Amino acid sequence: MTTSAIAVTGLRKTFKDRTVLDGVDLDVGSGTVFSLLGPNGAGKTTTVNLLTTLLRADGGTARVAGHDLETEAKAVRAAIGVTGQFAAVDELLTGQENLQLMVDLHGASAGDGRRRVTELLERFELTEFAQKPASTYSGGMRRKLDLAMTLVGDPRIVFLDEPTTGLDPRSRRTMWSIIRELVADGVTIFLTTQYLEEADQLADRIAVLDQGRIVAQGTPDELKRQLPGTHIRLRFAGTAELDAAAQVLADATRDDDGLTLRVPGDGGTASLRALLDRLDEYSLTADELSVHTPDLDDVFLALTGHTTEATK
Ligand SMILES: Nc1ncnc2c1ncn2[C@@H]1O[C@H](COP(=O)(O)OP(=O)(O)O)[C@@H](O)[C@H]1O
Ligand SMILES: [Mg+2]
Repeated sequence: MTTSAIAVTGLRKTFKDRTVLDGVDLDVGSGTVFSLLGPNGAGKTTTVNLLTTLLRADGGTARVAGHDLETEAKAVRAAIGVTGQFAAVDELLTGQENLQLMVDLHGASAGDGRRRVTELLERFELTEFAQKPASTYSGGMRRKLDLAMTLVGDPRIVFLDEPTTGLDPRSRRTMWSIIRELVADGVTIFLTTQYLEEADQLADRIAVLDQGRIVAQGTPDELKRQLPGTHIRLRFAGTAELDAAAQVLADATRDDDGLTLRVPGDGGTASLRALLDRLDEYSLTADELSVHTPDLDDVFLALTGHTTEATK
């Protein structure tokens, strides 16, 4: 049983007459990666802004790092770090100066501060560019510097709002490995993303946000299993075996070229056992058995009835 780093019930936010969050419930286990997944305009940044005390909610309750968001905002702020969707880096300062500024804000001693800056520059592979103004940095370098600045205070919970949007594949992978390292150190990550693959790669749990509501929540595999389309694939040694099996498994779809049968099933142990028993009963053997689940793009479409057009 893990404790909750973030627990949210009935969170609501309205801008003028536009309801942006319409009763959001979330639970993020300590030391896990939680991904809030949704297209542009779904309410991801609004959720992050509420949970990091940058905005005030119109309804609902939330505890972050064990503190009530409404009455203990200061304690919440002390426990968290936020890397916003738009980098908070000062363009006119060098990478080193940006980090030094954060260190100074946290009141470290001069020696400790310098060590911390050096260590963070190395960790984020920015040492080489430390003396260059941030305005000369690529998008990926800027994001890394921004995250390094967030980590100066050693936050136990880090909010990352679309940390890889617009990054090239290589910078995205670097960001992913940095996130994995943070988790290995016990940090809780609240990550928003428009990228289904990113949530699938990083998250222990995913909540799908669509028009201010959570339309699904679970592990990546749980979300994928909720869908029709999961099937078991059997591959046979030859056409004779395929023919025999196709007669027995009447609801399967056959692929003669691949010598395979696609058998509908949820991929759970009960349906697998039933399938194997049936093959056994007719003395049939398959060379290979695999369970195929849909990817998160399929999940989003099935859950919301529309695609994540914002990612296209
Ligand atoms: N300060 C604001 N005033 C009015 N509308 C806002 C404000 N902030 C966000 N919105 C609206 O709320 C919706 C959700 O925005 P946002 O949380 O930024 O979504 P996301 O981060 O998922 O793209 C959008 O339609 C946006 O236009
Ligand atoms: Mg946003």
